[in-house]
Amino acid sequence: MIIKDAQFLVSNTDVRKCPEGTMPEFAFIGRSNVGKSSLINMLTNRKGLAMTSSTPGKTMLVNHFIINNDWYLVDLPGYGYARRGKEGREQIRTVIENYIQERMQLTCLFVLIDSRLEPQQIDLEFIEWLGENGVPFCIIFTKIDKIGKGKLTSNRHLFEQKLLENWEELPLMFETSSEHRLGKEEVLGYIESVIREVRK
Ligand code: GTP
Ligand code: MG
Repeated sequence: MIIKDAQFLVSNTDVRKCPEGTMPEFAFIGRSNVGKSSLINMLTNRKGLAMTSSTPGKTMLVNHFIINNDWYLVDLPGYGYARRGKEGREQIRTVIENYIQERMQLTCLFVLIDSRLEPQQIDLEFIEWLGENGVPFCIIFTKIDKIGKGKLTSNRHLFEQKLLENWEELPLMFETSSEHRLGKEEVLGYIESVIREVRK
């Protein structure tokens, strides 16, 4: 897919105030600092489209972008940022859960996983919750420029083993680096194919 146009539309915490209409929507989620906003900028080829920061907890709102005047892309706040405190974390959790459960246009959720880490409980629990709620999702292993091929393979294998404890089939998985611009064609190609499918 060629991205000819990408525009920021609106940020909010209330799913009822998200853009109306029936365009398919693809959202990016994951732990704080996993690289959601950086990935969105890499995919859209626009450096400052989504705000990034080395300090976790940068994205606090549900941010809508419109791509090629054809589909919505959403940058979500990260979950599990410890320094936000219990109350802050729960607030963000409510925003995320309401969005995912109520946003009818949500076509696929990309769950970002830091490829450098062994499986984290918080990610596994979140994916479990997606299963319970019947949310279609894919996995993206991020920051693969920061890790060797061997460690990447073993972390991915461990993650797959954990998923197979609860799932019969593995979800689709991608590996990306926003720094080295890897995985772009794969993720965008998938989005394009899903859009084609839902419009059949
Ligand atoms: P929150 O909005 O705080 O939840 O974070 P986020 O998931 O949007 O992460 P963000 O894109 O802001 O990136 C966090 C940090 O990781 C920044 O310092 C980025 O430069 C860095 N980063 C993101 N992706 C990559 C990557 O693929 N490779 C490398 N080396 N660094 C990355
Ligand atoms: Mg962000």
